[in-house]
Amino acid sequence: MFMLRTFPVFMTSSAGALDGGAPAGGTLSGEGLDIPMTSARNGFDPQALEAIATRLRAQPGALMLILREVQDRLGWVPAASVPVIAQVLNLSRAEVHGVVTFYHDFRHEPPGHNVLRLCQAESCQAMGAVALAEHACRRLGIGFGETTPDREFTLEAVYCLGNCGCSPAMLLNGEPYGRLTPERLDDLVAECRENHR
Ligand code: FES
Repeated sequence: MFMLRTFPVFMTSSAGALDGGAPAGGTLSGEGLDIPMTSARNGFDPQALEAIATRLRAQPGALMLILREVQDRLGWVPAASVPVIAQVLNLSRAEVHGVVTFYHDFRHEPPGHNVLRLCQAESCQAMGAVALAEHACRRLGIGFGETTPDREFTLEAVYCLGNCGCSPAMLLNGEPYGRLTPERLDDLVAECRENHR
């Protein structure tokens, strides 16, 4: 079985914008933000990040809210975002870095084009989730927390998706799937590859 892990953080794109799996030409919007996104999967604009951090800094749990929004928008949390967030929140870089690295849900590099999140919690385990995970690792040639060399797939372990009645379950690009079998998983992987040609 491969080792599990998940993670990443922002870089400057030519258009100077946040990015990470977001639709090309999309925007960051909300509460006065209307920040253009780029198609560069590892792009990130410090000014866009600063605007997000400034908007959220007075909220309870601001650091987590900011990190969540960064990951939601970029698909990962770039290391270069740490000093920007630290400055806005008046925290040390070590404090921000510590939180980013403590929570395995935060990615430290851009995810693949498709993200498979396989549930490995109790109910799914009882219905074959471990064997399914081993199959997925073999099929994709990666372990949990890893991305295929062609950057098509990222595989992640999660612990209960609230879909226990349909174990074993997974999220594929945010869509729930249940009662999975190795064959069904293979079909879904093949569909993803076909759709991205
Ligand atoms: S244990 Fe897998 S969805 Fe709940």
